Amino acid sequence: MAPVLEVQDLSVSYRRAGDIPQPALAGVSFELMQGEILGVLGESGSGKSTLAMTLLRLLAPNANVTKGAVLFEGKDLLQSNSEELRKVRGRRIALIFQEPVLALHPTMRAGEQVRQLLLAHNSVPQLSLNEEVRQIFDKIFLQDAERILRSYPHQLSGGQRQRVLIAQAIACNPSVIIADESTASLDPTITMEILGLFQRLKTQLNLAMIFITHNPALLAGFADRVMILYGGRVAELGPADAVLASPRHPYTQALFQAVPQSLDEDEQTRMEKLPSIAGEYSSSLPEGCCFEPRCAERMAVCSGHAPALTKVNQAHSAACFKYE
Ligand SMILES: Nc1ncnc2c1ncn2[C@@H]1O[C@H](COP(=O)(O)OP(=O)(O)O)[C@@H](O)[C@H]1O
Ligand code: SF4
Ligand SMILES: [Mg+2]
Repeated sequence: MAPVLEVQDLSVSYRRAGDIPQPALAGVSFELMQGEILGVLGESGSGKSTLAMTLLRLLAPNANVTKGAVLFEGKDLLQSNSEELRKVRGRRIALIFQEPVLALHPTMRAGEQVRQLLLAHNSVPQLSLNEEVRQIFDKIFLQDAERILRSYPHQLSGGQRQRVLIAQAIACNPSVIIADESTASLDPTITMEILGLFQRLKTQLNLAMIFITHNPALLAGFADRVMILYGGRVAELGPADAVLASPRHPYTQALFQAVPQSLDEDEQTRMEKLPSIAGEYSSSLPEGCCFEPRCAERMAVCSGHAPALTKVNQAHSAACFKYE
């Protein structure tokens, strides 16, 4: 099966005033297959949002893509012109942002927000717009769809607002959805409901999804594959059950060993409970392995140059000299 999205050797850096460019992603490569959920897991500052924004070319003006390709439907999005990008953004690849309160228009009814989107993308004949909106809400809200589409954002709960964003995301029948920490502000019960909804939509609509999170507990039983980002590089990539149950990269091992994963733990708490990862997390890229300053298994070779992502078996890879 051909991948729906293919990211090749992607590197991005940010310019800060008076500073030399600061790398945020370095040599990131992965494929996203049709109908799969790829969980992207990393600490704050590891480059997750930069990755999401690069895929849709929505990076901040001080960002610079220094290398790489993003192949989607036979085109490199990094080489596409603005008209080509307009046809992809929101239509073929949809992004669900971190904060539902900020992402929705405060004085527009939920249904109207989806209607406007369909109108802007010109994807449905004017006459059938309302019917289409209703059908989209029926897919997302198994009860109460009619009331919710007539409501303003402030009349909805956090979980309902998240679902309206999902309604917007699926409105134009995308083939890829990127969710960047989209459940971070929701409580554990609602989060599980949203993950269930994502899985149902994945199957019903044959979607591929990039699900970005800092919480490993969300990925078990949800993601098909998991990619671990550390310091802007891919540390580990493989089937979710293999990566979560028997991680191979020393960083992933330390991360998962230190604490039993729980759904409602915030990132701060989890990171404070990581005694086996000594030292500060640094998002700047050193010459060698970026985990070297904190790695209990470091060797002489580790500070010389960065380890390549190496297969530990057919489908599972880790970027560590232990496997080279
Ligand atoms: N607009 C920006 N200008 C300068 N540096 C940025 C900008 N956005 C992100 N960064 C830096 O890039 C790195 C990766 O950030 P980000 O992609 O937001 O990580 P994550 O989403 O994993 O928290 C961090 O070191 C962050 O400080
Ligand atoms: S390459 Fe070396 S420093 Fe990096 S994770 Fe592997 S053993 Fe540790
Ligand atoms: Mg982020």
